[in-house]
Amino acid sequence: MNRTAIVTGAASPRGIGRATALLLASQGWNIGILDIASGDSLASEITSQYNVKAHAVTADVSDESQVLGAIDELEAALPPLAALANLAGVSSPMPYLDLTSEEWHRVININLNGVHYVTHRVAKSMVRHNYGRIVSVSSTSAQLGGGTYSKTPYSVAKAAVIGLTRALARELGPHNITVNAVAPGPIDTDIMGGPLTPDRRSTLVDSLLVNHLGQPADVASAIAFLMSENSAYITGHTLNVDGGLYMH
Ligand SMILES: NC(=O)c1ccc[n+]([C@@H]2O[C@H](COP(=O)([O-])OP(=O)(O)OC[C@H]3O[C@@H](n4cnc5c(N)ncnc54)[C@H](O)[C@@H]3O)[C@@H](O)[C@H]2O)c1
Repeated sequence: MNRTAIVTGAASPRGIGRATALLLASQGWNIGILDIASGDSLASEITSQYNVKAHAVTADVSDESQVLGAIDELEAALPPLAALANLAGVSSPMPYLDLTSEEWHRVININLNGVHYVTHRVAKSMVRHNYGRIVSVSSTSAQLGGGTYSKTPYSVAKAAVIGLTRALARELGPHNITVNAVAPGPIDTDIMGGPLTPDRRSTLVDSLLVNHLGQPADVASAIAFLMSENSAYITGHTLNVDGGLYMH
């Protein structure tokens, strides 16, 4: 396959982004990594393990000029850009009554504006190629108003990602671009204040319909499905990957 998928937020060693980049590479996608932390070791791991190209750039998704430079660099280094997974994000457990303006803006800037900056730039290239698959990560927190770890600004940003997804599905559909979201429930990564203790795991599992916590690979496979050729008739959709935490 002579196509590239960009994965933001892939540098984290136990994160969903890393699992997604590795799964997509195993399916033949060339991989562009964009993260505020270095993704160089993941890029090397991908190229040594799979017969694809990989290139990592360090950039803050909440800084539009850094995003523009980063996507330019990925496009110059890799085959044509055909897919984007927006996974870069931060958690925020601050209660609303204690919330500072700085925290509100930090979370909205990274979790919402960051998705917009990357998508806006990448969509322009996809329109030129008349093909694209965009998948952004929302959260059960958008649907339930929090409830697992993060609170208000996180829920707001993740709910807005669903609105952005639906609006873009309309506008980009005529250009042969599908735009979808995944809404994970609790996934076993370090984003909820560090590695989960056995007590927190069992509390989280108690609220699910399945008897185990979600793994990064569970979300990665949903993203890879929405990015596949076979998903051409799915757009504007939010796919819950949440062990049944939210049924709608
Ligand atoms: N783990 C869960 O339970 C869960 C549930 C629902 C949604 N999500 C979402 O999935 C995504 C991935 O989360 P994860 O659990 O793998 O967490 P993680 O902390 O392991 O990964 C987040 C990644 O985003 C990167 N990042 C953070 N701020 C950035 C910035 N300003 N610019 C560029 N990169 C930045 C980090 O360096 C890291 O690699 C996040 O958007 C998160 O909100 C996670």
